[in-house]
Amino acid sequence: SRGQERGMAVEGKPSVKSSSSIVPCFLFVELVIMAGTVLLAYYFEYTDTFPVHIQGFFCYDKTFSKPYPGPDHSSKIPPVLVYSLVTAIPTVTIVIGELCAFFTKAEGTQEKTIVTADCCYFNPLLRRIIRFLGVYAFGLFTTTIFVNAGQVVTGNQTPHFLSACRPNYTALGCQSTMQYIGERRACTGNPLIVMSARKSFPSKDAALSVYSAVYTVMYVTLVFKTKGTRLTKPTISLTLFCLAMLVGVVRVAEYRNHWGDVLAGFFTGGAIAVFLVTCVINSFQQMLPNPLPLRPQRPESVLGMPMVTLPCVESPLEKLHGDLRSPRSHDHQPYRFPPVTPDVLIPSRSISSEV
Ligand SMILES: *[C@@H]1O[C@H](CO)[C@@H](O)[C@H](O)[C@H]1NC(C)=O
Repeated sequence: SRGQERGMAVEGKPSVKSSSSIVPCFLFVELVIMAGTVLLAYYFEYTDTFPVHIQGFFCYDKTFSKPYPGPDHSSKIPPVLVYSLVTAIPTVTIVIGELCAFFTKAEGTQEKTIVTADCCYFNPLLRRIIRFLGVYAFGLFTTTIFVNAGQVVTGNQTPHFLSACRPNYTALGCQSTMQYIGERRACTGNPLIVMSARKSFPSKDAALSVYSAVYTVMYVTLVFKTKGTRLTKPTISLTLFCLAMLVGVVRVAEYRNHWGDVLAGFFTGGAIAVFLVTCVINSFQQMLPNPLPLRPQRPESVLGMPMVTLPCVESPLEKLHGDLRSPRSHDHQPYRFPPVTPDVLIPSRSISSEV
């Protein structure tokens, strides 16, 4: 009976029928969540729906008295460049990686496509690309929201804050450097520049670049399993990390952020990427569908052997195993089937997946 179920699951007929009504519902919920995230990010970014917290300052405070470096787009690494790289690099990497995995079909990926194909009509290749890029985009907007919320709530000033604010020290009666100015109207500079100079903690560019780098690096290291990538993977990974660090360093060097802001941005972006990859998309591996109860009992057979060989290997064995084996484990040692037992098959699988 299990062999029959397996065969039917591979063909995909019954599962398609049962889940085709549920998939649009999930898809709808996910689209609504996605739209809400994008909308919230938009409100934080381009409107003043959430007013920034107004912090006071000390007269002649050296921490905030660096020269004004000009607007953001005159930076050496302008936001447009950061946003395009943050969008383009993971997209290109994931599309290329999925195409390679789909067509070379080295290990792991083949059964993945067949097993996951039983839930909807999408091409499995397209499904994986859309899932990984969709989660990536979701994380990107989530990072933006986190960072903007942090900036608005803390209202920490940038290193060039006093140069942008240009307080009239004579009118404020500043004598010593220890005098604290809490007035909201202390600044005489351009209000827009002053407003953006109040948004420093955490650094958005640093958070976005590290988020993108960590997500891409985890994709590269977890999915690329081809032989001969021993140096390719670290090269790509370290290059991406280096670029992300560079963004943070330039932010500090141009007096647009403090070190603490950049480190907090690194932490925010990295944490969101690690969380999404490990907990949400299962480290880019196949999703184990819940409605099939037989799959968790023998995970290594699903993960290790190509699905195509399963029916001919298992059809005589499966009934014996099903009768003898306890559901909690896969210890094959007590029952020996010399020609085709999984003990024979597993070593070859473990070698190929280790390389
Ligand atoms: C600063 O304030 C003083 C006193 O209110 C005023 O006389 C002076 O013109 C102001 N300076 C600037 C640059 O606004």
